[in-house]
Amino acid sequence: MIAAALRRALIGLVCIAALPVARAQFSYDVPYVPTPLVVVEEMLRLAEVTRDDFVIDLGSGDGRVVIAAVSKFGARGIGVDLDPERILESDYNASVAGVSDRVAFHRQDLFKFEISRASVITMYLLPSVNIKLRPRLLSELKPGTRIVSHDFDMEDWKPDARSTVRKNVFLWIVPAKVEGRWHADLALPNGARSYDIEIKQKFQEIDGLVRYDKKVAGLWNASLRGDRVQFTIVDDGGALDTNLYFDGRVSDDVIEGVILRGIGADRQKISWRATRVAGVAAQ
Ligand SMILES: C[S@@+](CC[C@H](N)C(=O)[O-])C[C@H]1O[C@@H](n2cnc3c(N)ncnc32)[C@H](O)[C@@H]1O
Repeated sequence: MIAAALRRALIGLVCIAALPVARAQFSYDVPYVPTPLVVVEEMLRLAEVTRDDFVIDLGSGDGRVVIAAVSKFGARGIGVDLDPERILESDYNASVAGVSDRVAFHRQDLFKFEISRASVITMYLLPSVNIKLRPRLLSELKPGTRIVSHDFDMEDWKPDARSTVRKNVFLWIVPAKVEGRWHADLALPNGARSYDIEIKQKFQEIDGLVRYDKKVAGLWNASLRGDRVQFTIVDDGGALDTNLYFDGRVSDDVIEGVILRGIGADRQKISWRATRVAGVAAQ
């Protein structure tokens, strides 16, 4: 009987610790609940962390996520936590793992911490904290930066991938800003072509149209992953009459890349460059 009562009390305590309880019940914006190690592994796998990455864990707890990124994937990284006990614990754990020279833990507020150097951001926070952080993640991180979150999503910013290994883990790739009007003058095999391309953007979801030769056509299969934009124009006017598969990289006000045209032995590669005419997405 006593054992059963104790067990019930313990289960209650664990459940309370796991709940996003009212802020008044804990000292910082998020209570300390460590990510299980199997979920840490899944977060880093989903983010495809390599030795070239710089990982920042926002609200780093005992440092386990950054320490795993460094010791198992060869990355470098930083953890940020407001709780001084967690920072001490993290420094100790890093020295036990033998990676103190490749990690650092800072006692700072995650809302103020400089994040632009990260190539991977990891978080186990709360839905409201994710949403409060979202504008900074979108504006301060470089396009292509991967963000993984344990348990909580970012509302209408849909994840680029999701894993359900034991817990929900979400991955987002920070999208470049492509919303607006672009102009491209192209030297195609059958003559010159001028395209005025208009792109609409909601996070990584894009859609648009192209104007050329007094015609308007849609952009087919339009996609954006980090700074990589792809779409197809079906140019069925005059001498061309072809599908043009655009693939390019966005860098501020320029997109540059390659167009594939034709199939099989007729396949051709054509370089393309578009410049921004007006309009930048406000996200
Ligand atoms: C749920 S734990 C996650 C710990 C670790 N990232 C993990 O996944 O194991 C959240 C951590 O965020 C820290 N935290 C809460 N609010 C913070 C803030 N404003 N700035 C920095 N750290 C904060 C807490 O001290 C806690 O260690």
